[in-house]
Amino acid sequence: MPESVRAVCPGSFDPITRGHLDIIERAHSVFHEVVVAVGRNTTKNYLFDIDERLDLVRRAVGHLDGVTVEIIDGLLSDFCKEHQASVIVKGVRFGTDLDYELQMGQLNRFLSGIETVLLPAGREYGTISSSMLREVAANHGDISPFVTAEANAAVRAKLGY
Ligand code: PNS
Repeated sequence: MPESVRAVCPGSFDPITRGHLDIIERAHSVFHEVVVAVGRNTTKNYLFDIDERLDLVRRAVGHLDGVTVEIIDGLLSDFCKEHQASVIVKGVRFGTDLDYELQMGQLNRFLSGIETVLLPAGREYGTISSSMLREVAANHGDISPFVTAEANAAVRAKLGY
């Protein structure tokens, strides 16, 4: 392995969950440097705009040396080249994630030769998703066990309670 390996953890992070944070921390424990890429999936409707999502991710990873957070605007494979990253790290919760990540991973490798490493989601947060948490929160359910304190406060403020 080269002396320093930079990994990219991409996602929408709308908002960042403890499941995302677990994957970022584990990527950080395996690779030397991690760039968290916060982007827009054109098929999704977002609760938070890009600057709000970026800010929440930055606050969540502030304690991790060697982890930076950037906006991705364009192809992930191009982002990885621009940031001299040689691996993409994604979490996998269940079968549908795997189907999606296999497609993405193969396409990204075809586009730029970049490898994708898939980490099994942590047991505690294995099946949560930002979209489900947004729905729970919209109906005034408590999502605090699943998100950072800042993200919980931001969700409540956004939803007006
Ligand atoms: O997991 P998400 O929410 O879809 O991640 C969002 C984002 C923006 C990181 C993702 O959609 C992405 O990588 N977009 C960049 C465009 C791209 O490279 N698409 C895939 C080609 S294989």
